[in-house]
Amino acid sequence: MKKIAIFASGSGSNAENIARYFKNHKYIKVDLILSNRTNAYVLKRAEKLHIPTYVFTKDELYNTHKIKDLLLNNKIDLIVLAGFLLLIPKYLIKAFPNSIINIHPALLPKYGGKGMYGERVHQKILENGDKESGITIHYVNENYDEGSIIHQSKFPVEAGDTIEDIAQKAHELEYKYYPKVIEKLLSGDL
Ligand code: GAR
Repeated sequence: MKKIAIFASGSGSNAENIARYFKNHKYIKVDLILSNRTNAYVLKRAEKLHIPTYVFTKDELYNTHKIKDLLLNNKIDLIVLAGFLLLIPKYLIKAFPNSIINIHPALLPKYGGKGMYGERVHQKILENGDKESGITIHYVNENYDEGSIIHQSKFPVEAGDTIEDIAQKAHELEYKYYPKVIEKLLSGDL
């Protein structure tokens, strides 16, 4: 069995979508969902899906190796960031080489970097009058949103679109492609 650990800080709709996609999969399962926020809605979703969770503090992530040990002990094959807002520390990247991926709701390298997440990204797209946006799935390195790109897909931004409209279009593409990219990576097809 190939095992996924998902890190999420907020709502967790991507986490849920990924968990549902792999629910009855032959050789891939979502083993653990981790969050840095005790009140993140993703934890409620995990409970409903009967997936174990682990909540940690920033201090635990940056100043201990507890999370790394937990992931290694659980034999996690792939770490999937899904709306996770803290920078992944170097020691974790070293322990999981080419095995940590992230999704970003824009066409990187546009609109990436610290503080660029969720609605803030879509706000900028509207402010700049962009005619298209999209999603990016990429490997994680020690800088925000800079690891090599695995997949991108685009959608049009139409006149009159609101932040919510853009967020919805991004989410639709995320739900469609993130599980498939994960499946390909864990099957050695990417
Ligand atoms: C997603 O759109 C994801 O791309 C974005 O946060 C949202 C989380 O939604 N991630 C970032 O902006 C990372 N910089 P969700 O909690 O409903 O899955």
